[in-house]
Amino acid sequence: MIGHDVLLAADNLRRGLTVGIPTETVYGLAANALNESAVVSIFKIKNRPFFDPLILHVRDLESAVPYVESIPEAARKLADQFWPGPLTLLLRKSKLVPDIVTSGSDLVAIRVPRHPLTLSLLKELEFPLAAPSANPFGYISPTKAEHVEQQLGDKVSYILDGGSSDVGIESTIINCTTERIQIVRLGGLSMELIETQIGYKPELNISKNSNPLAPGQLDKHYAPKAQFVLSDNIEETILKYRHNKIAILTFGSKTYDESIYQLNLSPTESLEEAARNLFHYMRLLDNYMPEVIISVKLPSFGLGLAINDRLSRASKH
Ligand code: TXA
Ligand code: MG
Repeated sequence: MIGHDVLLAADNLRRGLTVGIPTETVYGLAANALNESAVVSIFKIKNRPFFDPLILHVRDLESAVPYVESIPEAARKLADQFWPGPLTLLLRKSKLVPDIVTSGSDLVAIRVPRHPLTLSLLKELEFPLAAPSANPFGYISPTKAEHVEQQLGDKVSYILDGGSSDVGIESTIINCTTERIQIVRLGGLSMELIETQIGYKPELNISKNSNPLAPGQLDKHYAPKAQFVLSDNIEETILKYRHNKIAILTFGSKTYDESIYQLNLSPTESLEEAARNLFHYMRLLDNYMPEVIISVKLPSFGLGLAINDRLSRASKH
């Protein structure tokens, strides 16, 4: 069931059920983070391996305090500036956080989402919400309630409909337990903004399959069903696949052969607009059921870095 009823969502969560929740980044599949069997059901519904830990969602920085050992200065600075928002902080966990949430790690990922419906839900609740993106493991993340409905509708008790996610890609994850902070997942908060706030260029420690700091970030991720090809030269790649049914994902003012199904992430080259459209457009292209989706690479600054990260993971076999 889809709707706007925060009290019903809260009630279901109190009963240990899962609920789809809107956030400004992507939709989440939420459950009471302190209820282990409710958390187990998140992994089951998503078909997600238990080694991939979940983010704890809280209403504000103060509500995070019981779940962490301490809040280092850099973390406080970032939280003060960017929460609520597309930022997740990795901190040392307290005993209150069940091991299943962190996959046994002594670090916990925490974030305060910015969407008004989910913020009012969090204010209603006596516990934090564990919530991964509400997609089957490995597929494209959802940015609309309908995406959640289509894929997990029969498995969740309720979906809170908050419209389209206005950032459109997942939160940036920052490890705050090292002397200098490290970015462990590129996301909806740009490196440049983070740098302005902490006064130095943060180290990038983006995971490969084996990186223990963000164990869930497998190389192949965000993948549509069609083969996905990331290209430096669209014309050449179109030629290469001319015998296949293709679709293309573009960016900027350049247009291509009109007989080819194409979607433009942002004709005016806005990286924010491109991020907002990214996952929805990947789904639309996939629904057209091409054999191959060809995508441009975006400029590598601002949100372009995070978008290219998603595109490149989608193109891994
Ligand atoms: O924007 C977002 O962050 C969305 C919305 C729903 O909040 N959530 C999201 O969750 O993207 P998920 O589960 O799809 O991705 C969370 C990532 C995983 O790759 C996981 O490895 C990492 O966060 N993570 C979570 N807890 C961690 C921990 N304790 N240590 C290291 N990495 C962690
Ligand atoms: Mg995810």
